Amino acid sequence: MSLAAGIIQEGGLVAFPTETVYGIGASAYNNQAVKQIYIVKNRSTSDPIIVHIARIEQLGEVASEVPSIAFELAENFWPGPLTLVLKRNKNVAKYVSAGLDTVAVRMSRHHVPLQIINLSKTPIAAPSANLFTRPSSTIAQHVIDDLYGKIDLIIDGGICEIGLESTVLDLTNKIPTILRPGGTPIEMLREKIPDITYSDKFIDAMHGEGMPSPGMLSKHYSPKTQFVIFSGGSPIALDNLRKIIVYLLANHKQIGLLLPDEELSFFADLPIQIQNLGPKEDMSQIAQNLFVGIRSLDKANLNVIIMRSVDKKGLGVAIWDRLSRASGQKVFNLDNEVDVADYRWIID
Ligand code: TXA
Ligand code: MG
Repeated sequence: MSLAAGIIQEGGLVAFPTETVYGIGASAYNNQAVKQIYIVKNRSTSDPIIVHIARIEQLGEVASEVPSIAFELAENFWPGPLTLVLKRNKNVAKYVSAGLDTVAVRMSRHHVPLQIINLSKTPIAAPSANLFTRPSSTIAQHVIDDLYGKIDLIIDGGICEIGLESTVLDLTNKIPTILRPGGTPIEMLREKIPDITYSDKFIDAMHGEGMPSPGMLSKHYSPKTQFVIFSGGSPIALDNLRKIIVYLLANHKQIGLLLPDEELSFFADLPIQIQNLGPKEDMSQIAQNLFVGIRSLDKANLNVIIMRSVDKKGLGVAIWDRLSRASGQKVFNLDNEVDVADYRWIID
């Protein structure tokens, strides 16, 4: 770990595991090093980066104002998958905040970043260790696939415990607002702070599901392969999905399918590549397997990857968000009878 700390102190870049996803870190005080993160990720410099700390006392080093609610949340949810957006301390490298007067801070519960931060004696700015728009990395091989040769060190810590990024909570407005759902579900946060809400943008996205035509909206966390999500809890939904898959197969398409264990038998006889994600009710397991499953199918030269959506509760909200964005908002409900020809665009 001292090797990693030395690299950070000298302005280098280190990829490391966290409990959420792998991060790619630089000293939060070194503007050039932080700039280099944007370059290797091919990330827009208008998208700010999270600063990782190892002790609650370090909050004062990176934030200029720390309201009592931040301490309350930190005491209850740190170390863990919760990021707090606060007013920025000017010590923090400019590139971290992408021109904003705020800074996002989190304390991971993974021993590797905690040790590197302590040994290097510097907070570490670290976004997820993936190329811009690609799914986050949840095993070291993903980091190698995206960033090998561009950074100084990759620390292999096995598969990330949670598999989804942290929840980003903005505390700079009157009402604490979730900007990105993540590893700490809103239900848990509301037990401590009842008035926490989602950003309007996210609420709009949640209601935007349904029409069988592809959206042209922003993509993030995406595989290279076309990615389409189908929701619906009724038996009809599974029948409809089977019909759509059979239609795609009849048109000579190579298909990958991600689904919960319980639905496996329904598709097992079809000549498609299946990745099961875990039991339907076990959102933790589905979350952990999600990016591994997507990235593995993405390497299989398929025409389309299809996934069954999840219930939007608990961790399911963050899973749904990643699916919606990875697919470019191609999330369609199959609870009513469908005409497979409405899905012809998947072939074209
Ligand atoms: O779990 C995680 O959060 C992982 C691990 C490595 O810690 N990190 C991560 O970083 O997901 P990244 O850069 O991929 O996503 C950070 C998110 C982005 O959506 C960014 O816009 C938002 O946090 N963010 C960062 N600083 C912000 C700020 N000052 N105000 C608002 N949003 C901010
Ligand atoms: Mg990211």
